[in-house]
Amino acid sequence: MKRYRFGIFLLILALVGISCTGYFKNSAIVPGEIWNDTDGNLINAHGGGMLFHDGKYYWYGEIKEGKTWLVPDQNWECYRVNAGGVSCYSSKNLQDWKYEGAALSPNLTDSANDLHISKVLERPKVIYNEKTKKFVMWLHVDTEDYLYSHAGVATSDKPEGPFAYLGSTLPNKYTSRDMTLFKDEDGKAYHIFASEMNAVMHISLLTDDYLQSSGVERRVFIDKNREAPAMFKNNGKYYLITSGCTGWDPNEASLASADSILGNWKEMYNPCMGEKGDKTFMAQSTYVLPIEGKTDYYIFMADRWNRTNLEDSRYVWLPLVFRNDSVLVEWKDSWKLLSQ
Ligand code: GAL
Repeated sequence: MKRYRFGIFLLILALVGISCTGYFKNSAIVPGEIWNDTDGNLINAHGGGMLFHDGKYYWYGEIKEGKTWLVPDQNWECYRVNAGGVSCYSSKNLQDWKYEGAALSPNLTDSANDLHISKVLERPKVIYNEKTKKFVMWLHVDTEDYLYSHAGVATSDKPEGPFAYLGSTLPNKYTSRDMTLFKDEDGKAYHIFASEMNAVMHISLLTDDYLQSSGVERRVFIDKNREAPAMFKNNGKYYLITSGCTGWDPNEASLASADSILGNWKEMYNPCMGEKGDKTFMAQSTYVLPIEGKTDYYIFMADRWNRTNLEDSRYVWLPLVFRNDSVLVEWKDSWKLLSQ
């Protein structure tokens, strides 16, 4: 009996210990599983993007919370949740993520506001502007029928926010849905967005403050219906991974490359190898992150959407490597950054 009581005492001590330190660590990156932050809560950052700043990675993503419903009278399966704003998490090792709070909060009261919970807020991306010292966020802002198709812009003095919303535009007078940002080595930044009812991808140079479209842009993948763009650069060459257009359902990814970002883009092949590689491992691209201090090594980041329960959508992160001049993403049940 005494031993039993001592056992319970030790268990309570351990539990109190965990809640006092309040720090949960993940032992590996496990694609498609439930991922928790360092407080032990579910990570809620979908369609996300990354920023590396002052030795830390920041992960921004869509907050998807609450009931999923089907928007009536649409000619496609338009499942939605309330727009929950944009979350921010920080990490030094890309494995243990501290919740930094809502970087961009939704609007709860004004149904005409772009950020109202009845709207669609997707694929937020953040870059840092060295000249203005501002963190600049762009995101897809839409109505529930996806016909508003605007790009929203917000800024903050700190990476974790809160970001102040500046408003939304039709970049270069074009509609804008799935999107990403890419900041080049020369400090120029680009907004890459699915436009013209998703038929054409646009690569648009931003103004020096990153707050507007400059008017200089290139239309690529004309009539190819690509979305979910994720751009990266290696050895002076530009790469763009995109998905096909099948709503929340997975499809085959495609890799394209170009010698100059506003030049000719050549579609090449599907970089996802092995089982379910033809369905992007049941996920959809959102970002490709270069790992600081390593060459030729990136993380391919994708969302495994659960269309009828969107808040239970998961993250599929896998190493993206260059092998014999080919770009490859291979499935791993579980992996660690350092063992690569
Ligand atoms: C996908 C898109 C997602 C979301 C979804 C809505 O094709 O990549 O970001 O917009 O459609 O069904």
